[in-house]
Amino acid sequence: MSIGKPLPHDTAHLHVTGAARYVDDIPTPTGTLHLAFGLSDVAHGEITAMDLSAVRNAPGVITVLTAEDVPFENDVSPAAHDEPLLSTGSVHYVGQPIFLVVATSHLAARKAARLGKIDIAEKPAVLTIDQAMEADSRFEGGPVIWSRGKAKDALTSAPHLIEGQFEMGGQEHFYLEGQAAMALPGEDGEMLVHSSTQHPSEIQHKVAHAIGLPMHAVRVETRRMGGGFGGKESQGNALAVACAIAARQTGKPCKMRYDRDDDMVITGKRHDFRIAYRAGVDAAGKLLGLEVTQFARCGWAQDLSLPVADRAMLHADNAYFLENVEITSHRLKTNTQSATAYRGFGGPQGVLGIERILEHIARDRGLDPIEVRRVNFYADGQTTHYGQEIEGFHIPDMCDALLTRAEFSKRRAEVDAFNAENPVLKRGLGFSPVKFGISFTLTHLNQAGALVHVYQDGSIHLNHGGTEMGQGLFQKVAQVAASVFAVDMNVVKITATDTAKVPNTSATAASSGSDLNGMAVKAACETIRERISTHLAESWRVAPGDVVFSGGQVQAAGHPPISFAEAAGQAYFARISLSSTGFYKTPKITWDRIKGRGRPFLYFAHGVALCEVVIDTLTGENRILRTDIIHDTGNSLNPALDVGQVEGAFVQGAGWLTTEELVWDDAGRLRTHAPSTYKIPASSDRPRIFNVDLWNKPNSEDTVGRSKAVGEPPFMLGISAWLALADAISACGDGFHDLNAPATSEEVLASVDRVRSA
Ligand code: MTE
Ligand code: MOS
Repeated sequence: MSIGKPLPHDTAHLHVTGAARYVDDIPTPTGTLHLAFGLSDVAHGEITAMDLSAVRNAPGVITVLTAEDVPFENDVSPAAHDEPLLSTGSVHYVGQPIFLVVATSHLAARKAARLGKIDIAEKPAVLTIDQAMEADSRFEGGPVIWSRGKAKDALTSAPHLIEGQFEMGGQEHFYLEGQAAMALPGEDGEMLVHSSTQHPSEIQHKVAHAIGLPMHAVRVETRRMGGGFGGKESQGNALAVACAIAARQTGKPCKMRYDRDDDMVITGKRHDFRIAYRAGVDAAGKLLGLEVTQFARCGWAQDLSLPVADRAMLHADNAYFLENVEITSHRLKTNTQSATAYRGFGGPQGVLGIERILEHIARDRGLDPIEVRRVNFYADGQTTHYGQEIEGFHIPDMCDALLTRAEFSKRRAEVDAFNAENPVLKRGLGFSPVKFGISFTLTHLNQAGALVHVYQDGSIHLNHGGTEMGQGLFQKVAQVAASVFAVDMNVVKITATDTAKVPNTSATAASSGSDLNGMAVKAACETIRERISTHLAESWRVAPGDVVFSGGQVQAAGHPPISFAEAAGQAYFARISLSSTGFYKTPKITWDRIKGRGRPFLYFAHGVALCEVVIDTLTGENRILRTDIIHDTGNSLNPALDVGQVEGAFVQGAGWLTTEELVWDDAGRLRTHAPSTYKIPASSDRPRIFNVDLWNKPNSEDTVGRSKAVGEPPFMLGISAWLALADAISACGDGFHDLNAPATSEEVLASVDRVRSA
């Protein structure tokens, strides 16, 4: 069985040698043209005049397009039709594309794009949460409110009331491969598009609309991305559409990739949030009533903000039973990049909210933060605030196992002793759990297709709708295929995602890539296996059920084994189809997003983390010293890849909450638009001691191999690093730290001051 084996990523050897091919590595045909956008340098206004003569006359420029030259639909939004490819007269953020340069080289296009003279009559820009609330600038008319029980009554009667609010920053995806696309015009208007996208079907759809053809005329291929992290669910649309429009107009292949600064200035990021709360608790810190208000800064266009904000509300409970709760969500429209999907899709913001609330309760009441969490943990049989029953809830057991394994009691005493002796350096410990719902909340997206061919030599061609972005999806799904036929992994050829092979696919997102595509591939392989079994059973005069596939061979009692290749060959000669599609749709889910009720998720994935940090109270500098994690992957399809996902997610989550700070100035310009000013974790920032274990208990739901999705959930374990910083800061005095995120050195210092001055 290949399922469950800790195999390396199928193309790891290509990644590390530089031989893996990304869009920018595809050899380009002679005459390929290169594109760049001219951007708005004003956050909000009306274009009064545009002089592009210098752009047109620049060396290497073939043509320059504006909105008027767009032949059909001028829209690159994922759903709301509110995001023109090129501005139609008004501009809504600094970085919005206004015109498109088509030139003979990438550099020529970029240089020319700087030469546009655009007059813009500026209008007041709405940049911050406060400005947006003041101007009532929002999506969806008013706030979305979900409630359960009687929050107000519970708050009034609770013995203790804790109130506060805090800010959490957004996050740049910083995929190592930037956004990129290439369009190759074919005969009769057809278009082949290579795109670095998590969502080839959407690229196909948007390109078809943009060039006025049915979807059948457009084929999109994605071999892999050098990271997506949610930033390539919708943000690749503009490049692919621009390439297709330019290719249609010039008849030449057209290619576009954003330079890193352009990538950061143009594309959307994680939503920053403010969360305000009022919590009523008893003496043990148990939540009796809770009001949470989430303010999400969505940027100028809707993009995926509504489902992101929904998921933040759905994860406002994290691992805790909220009996009486009211959650209010403001989806604010601002003159900034349109915030988009990012690993966790709003979940991290919701989870950080409740973790901060419990942290505040513990500090305010003088209780142990872990004990406060324990008294609030869900128990099986309770329901979430949106009405989904909690089943197979592992967190209390995982918490016990982690604290034992990580020697928590001993280390707590050591940290306290260290802090008592050291006036300058302070250590801290932080514990956080995660419960993350698996399924797309838009129910129809929970479907997947596959296409499998077995050739007469027994080799297998595997294709499905999922995309590879480094997470190891292709390897996991190949393991599923190899297991169904009981063949070696090298028999299975992993192939690029291709809209002509599997149609109408969903984005590879919501961590559900292996759940959905694994099941679809399993179905396709089983169909072919049944056909081979039926044929062999007839010729061997046994029951089809007696034909066994194992160890690369096929056999039945009383018959000498034949190789899988021979079985495939025999089936071919007997004129048996050795090709099949497969399809899967997630069962059991129902969801009413207006009411906020139902069962949006097939199941939950769980995790727990304990993190130790040290801070320098003179400079605010800090380091993660050790992290221990136990994460629930069900029966892991591939423990090596899953541990890699957990490690990477933790580090990315910790980066969000520590060094990764996005700064916009008063004119709405993003000042942190390059690695020189935006600090992602380096390999040297990983915890020096980093113990990750998997909680290998089968999924109680019937998923592929009883596994669980792993891509996003462990991102939220990075919250333990933020809580550990809060703990270290709290060791400096008696006041409340009131820590915001990211906890940069500056923020840590300010927080130490707050604690000391109380
Ligand atoms: N891991 C790597 N190496 N690169 C990525 O871009 N994206 C994350 C996660 N892990 C990502 C990653 C996100 S946002 C999601 S939704 C899942 O992978 C998507 O893949 P899956 O559904 O196959 O887990
Ligand atoms: Mo992941 S944010 O669902 O692409």
